[in-house]
Amino acid sequence: MPPVTGTVLDAIGNTPLIQVDGIWVKLEFLNPSGSIKARVAAYMIGRAEREGLLRPGDTIVEASSGNTGNALSMVAAVRGYRMIVIMPAGLSSERAAISRAFGAEVRTVGDFHVTEALALARELGARPGHFAPQQFDSEWNVEENRTWLAPEILTQLAEVAPGTVPDAVVGGIGTGGTIIGVGQAFRAANPGCRIVGVEPDESCTIMCGEVGRHLIEGIADGFVPGILARHHQELSELIPVTSAEAVAEMRRLATGHGLFVGPSAGAHLLAARRLRDRNPELATIVTFFCDEGEKYLGDHFALSSGSEPPPARSPRPTQPEAEPKIATSARQAAADPRR
Ligand SMILES: Cc1ncc(COP(=O)(O)O)c(C=O)c1O
Repeated sequence: MPPVTGTVLDAIGNTPLIQVDGIWVKLEFLNPSGSIKARVAAYMIGRAEREGLLRPGDTIVEASSGNTGNALSMVAAVRGYRMIVIMPAGLSSERAAISRAFGAEVRTVGDFHVTEALALARELGARPGHFAPQQFDSEWNVEENRTWLAPEILTQLAEVAPGTVPDAVVGGIGTGGTIIGVGQAFRAANPGCRIVGVEPDESCTIMCGEVGRHLIEGIADGFVPGILARHHQELSELIPVTSAEAVAEMRRLATGHGLFVGPSAGAHLLAARRLRDRNPELATIVTFFCDEGEKYLGDHFALSSGSEPPPARSPRPTQPEAEPKIATSARQAAADPRR
């Protein structure tokens, strides 16, 4: 039973684990603030408070393409902090509106990818009375996923299918915190567990060093995040999914399964099914539906007929910040039908 007194933060976690097309899916979009990021926001702020990095009256500042901004804004509202979300232009307008609804100030910097927003967040976060959680770099992000999200999944799997351990975890890479942290915990349960990343084909930064516009918001923010730079050797492979495929699959999840979720959920399920098709021996594959469809009403639902995805934004070739280290082998792995 949830506590009789408490806050909305007590409702984070304990999301259902269900099977969709034979893939185990953690319904993280059911968290308060509508995404998986409620966990990391609550975890990092709690940790910062305990370590004396955040005091009453302080300001939290974070660069976010949306969901973490929404989640931190919710936590800041509950805990009484000022919140500044720095986000790039060109993302679904619902996300900025949600952060503002929680009382946050939203500043728009740069275009589509979060690279410029990151620099400003770092600069503001260094000022007195400010704290920048730095989700793209913080090992607390990995730790949360290893110690909170992953054990929940392992417990749920053990309840419904005793003795079952994951053979693979599949997920897109925003910060990399989810896939690396969950992957670490799964490997502790099954050392052979595959850790499989998903990238938009139009912006395969880790696989091939390209940065482009895409429609799978929440992942592939235009650079190789610090977490992935440190942990890339833990990834088994990467699977590319096009924006059009992800959006079409997102629509099918709503009409065919009653799951109103964002494009990355479509990308995740497609990638997980492709992994299983190539590797039928992987009996237990786990993925995440990270955010809710309501955040994409304007982009994908309200104004369109529902039969055709909107056109993909045109590619904008720029240089990634860091040289990807796993580029060639990962691309080969993705293209190799035997894997
Ligand atoms: C919408 C969304 N948010 C968050 C994540 C997880 O990102 P991270 O790598 O930051 O843990 C994903 C991953 O696919 C996602 O699709």
